[in-house]
This record gives sequence, structure tokens and C-alpha cells, in this order.
Amino acid sequence: MALADVIIIISRTGGAFASRWLHVIVGITWIGLLYYFNFVQVPAFAEMEAAARNNAIDKLASRALWWFRWAAVATLVTGIMILLFQKDGDKSQIFSGDYMKSVPGMAIATGILLALTMFLNVWLVIWPNQKKVIANARNVQAGGEADPNAAAAGRKALLASRMNAIFSFTMLLFMVGTAHFFLPGNFKFAPSGSDRGLYWAIAGIIWLVLELNALGVIGGTKPGGTNIIYDTHKAALWAGAVLVVVYYAVFYLILKA
Ligand code: HEM
Repeated sequence: MALADVIIIISRTGGAFASRWLHVIVGITWIGLLYYFNFVQVPAFAEMEAAARNNAIDKLASRALWWFRWAAVATLVTGIMILLFQKDGDKSQIFSGDYMKSVPGMAIATGILLALTMFLNVWLVIWPNQKKVIANARNVQAGGEADPNAAAAGRKALLASRMNAIFSFTMLLFMVGTAHFFLPGNFKFAPSGSDRGLYWAIAGIIWLVLELNALGVIGGTKPGGTNIIYDTHKAALWAGAVLVVVYYAVFYLILKA
């Protein structure tokens, strides 16, 4: 074996390992902060006086949001790196149609669908709206007039953030399950086209309805109605738990061996 081949094999193995390791580190940073916002910061801010809350938004939330959104970018980048390193590695053909038609391929595609949606919620909904909330808090602290649109912006960010918390449990089921659980043996070796079509139809509709709901397209942005799942962080926790069971049941019933 030529030296160049050895170097390629080592770097590929190392790259496959490093990208997975980094992916989990930045992934827990992102999702850890997501849980901090949902389960700690939002309930705490609700009990704080306006002046203290504005100071915390300015000094604390703004910093947490920096780590949050850039950890989301790093998670996406390292996730793509895992796919690239796998291309010629032991789990070959990850980009070929065949991989995506297999049970592990369908599992990671589901995880990525949810994670990408969460990423877009961070960058297109949560962060643009939180920027308005932070700007308002700083302005009010400096003695300026409160922005009348800040509360509505905060509400939009909250809905997307609670939706991300709800998605996160199912997303992680598929991320981790791909290599450790959704394997041929327990599941079909080569699911038929109709099995795959049925799975994607059901999984896709659930995903679409939930995301449209979080964006206010279905139930508006007010509490109650279909937004009941975002009304408290405990409601979001329950909704997340139910969603894992539903997604797992759909996957299992259609794709079990
Ligand atoms: C943003 C888009 C994301 C992409 C494109 C992505 C991609 C991937 C890929 C390709 C894998 C390897 C699957 C396999 O075992 O073959 C993976 C595994 C994993 N991902 Fe993600 N991921 C994303 C988001 C996340 C997030 C937000 C987390 C949160 C912590 C996460 C945590 C994990 C974990 C824990 C594993 C399992 C590692 C292992 O079992 O070796 N991922 N991801």
C-alpha cells in the first residue's frame, strides 16, 4: 500500500471520527442552550421586574443567543461533514439513492429534516425577532421609548423556540438511532417504494402542520387553540414526548422487519 493511501485512510477515519465528535459537542451546545431558554430563562424572565429583565436581556440573553445561533451553524456544518466523510468510508454510498432508501438512510433523513427546520427557525425566526427584543431592552435602559412591536417579536420567537424544543426529542431519536438502533434486522432490509412513500407522507404531514402552526399560519400567534402546545414550557415538554412516540410508532409500524 502506498504511503499516500495510508494517509488518505488515516485522515478519512480521523475525519469521520472528528466530525462526529465535534458534531455532538456543538450539537449539545445548541440544544443545551435551547433547553436553557425554554425551561429556565423564559419562566424566570416572566417573574422578573421590567428593569431587571431588560438588563438580563442586554447582558445575559444576548450572550447566550450568540453561542446558540453559532452552535447551530457549527452543528449543521459538522453534520454535513459526517455525510461527506462517510461518502467513501465504511458506510459507503450515503449520497446515493440506495442509502436514502434504506432504513438508516430514512432515519437520518428524518433527523436532518427536523434539525434543518430547527436551524431555519433559529436564523429566520428566533434571531431576527430577538434582535428587536434586545434593541428594545437596550434602548429602554438608555432612557428611550419602548418599542410597541417588541412584545409581538418576542412572541414569534417564543413560538419557534418552543417548537424547536418539541422537535428536538424526535430529532435526537433519529440522529442517534441511525447508527445504533434503526438497523436492518429489527427493521426492513430494503423497504418497498410504497412503504417509503407512506412513511414520508405521514412523517412529512406531521412535520409540515407543526411547523406551519409554529409560524402562526394555522392558529395565529395568540395562546390557546392549536397553540396550546406552546402555552407553557411543560405543555411543550409533553408535546415533545408525544411527538417522539408518534414518530417512532409510524416508523416502526411501516418499516419493522
Ligand atoms: C443541523 C443539521 C444536522 C445534520 C445535517 C446532522 C447530520 C448528522 C449525521 C449525518 C449523523 C450521522 C448519522 C449516522 O450515524 O450515520 C448525525 C449523528 C448525530 N447527530 Fe446530527 N445532524 C444535525 C443536527 C444535529 C443536532 C441539532 C444534534 C443535537 C445534539 C445532533 C446530534 C447528533 C448525534 C448525537 C448524533 C449521533 C452520533 C453517533 O451516534 O455517532 N445532530 N448527525
